[in-house]
Amino acid sequence: MSSDTALPESLRLNGCVALVTGGAKGIGRAISLQLARDGADVAIVVRSDRTAALATAAEVHALGRKAQVFLVDLTDHAAVQDLVAQVEQALGPVGLLVNNAGLGAPGPLLSLSEQDFDAVVAGNLKSCFLLSVCVARGMAARNMGAIVNIAGASAHRSYPGAGAYGPSKAAVVSLTVQMSLEWAALGIRVNGVSPGPIREAGSGWEAREPALAEEVSRLPLKRAGQPEEVAKAVAFLGSSDAAYITGQMMIVDGGGVNTWYLAG
Ligand SMILES: NC(=O)c1ccc[n+]([C@@H]2O[C@H](COP(=O)([O-])OP(=O)(O)OC[C@H]3O[C@@H](n4cnc5c(N)ncnc54)[C@H](OP(=O)(O)O)[C@@H]3O)[C@@H](O)[C@H]2O)c1
Repeated sequence: MSSDTALPESLRLNGCVALVTGGAKGIGRAISLQLARDGADVAIVVRSDRTAALATAAEVHALGRKAQVFLVDLTDHAAVQDLVAQVEQALGPVGLLVNNAGLGAPGPLLSLSEQDFDAVVAGNLKSCFLLSVCVARGMAARNMGAIVNIAGASAHRSYPGAGAYGPSKAAVVSLTVQMSLEWAALGIRVNGVSPGPIREAGSGWEAREPALAEEVSRLPLKRAGQPEEVAKAVAFLGSSDAAYITGQMMIVDGGGVNTWYLAG
């Protein structure tokens, strides 16, 4: 968050407190670690997986930064308000918020239950709204802050069987633009990152998900993305390197959003 251009690139978030939802595993873990490498202290927020959160917090500590773990259901408004107060007490004012937590409910619309639809919309969209508003109040008072929302390639190109997931992520894109317009005058930039298929290289995912592996082989870049590749886009958008960028989505998907069904 510092605008000190003399800082080495590796410390471009020096002194920043970053709050990363779902920051314990997968893409969220990579984001927590990248922000720590860039000099931020990290609040890692998960719903229930304390073990994964503590493991990632230990990795942040090993990078020389502070980390605190918070277990919160981000769809609970009162819990979200408490969370922001607890984070600020433990680590200081939040300078960068990354709304990464999310979930899906795969399946065709005709068999999607109302409960699953509500859970996906609440977990992906409402949680982003609730936490962003709570954090933005403090950022506005300081006239400084950045928010990065994680949507997904499914927000930009519909994917059969994505059920409520794609529509909820498309709404995250819209909410990102809405926040950016309303909060620019308050010193808050709001952007987003839309990952395509992200899988750990060497994890053997291709054998477990052969249909996805076939689709990935048709992407322009012909491979799945790595969590670290999403994290680097988040770190850029959250830093002063992106000081003149707001209301934008960066699509990190190997070119798939333009060709997903056309290549082959
Ligand atoms: N992986 C991909 O290929 C891909 C592609 C496009 C977009 N994305 C998006 O990228 C983000 C991360 O994906 P991922 O696959 O790395 O995630 P993941 O491994 O499934 O982890 C999701 C994280 O979000 C947390 N979470 C979910 N609902 C929550 C709630 N209501 N309150 C608090 N925490 C909650 C989970 O906590 P617990 O473990 O404690 O439940 C977990 O830490 C998601 O928004 C996802 O939609 C992923």
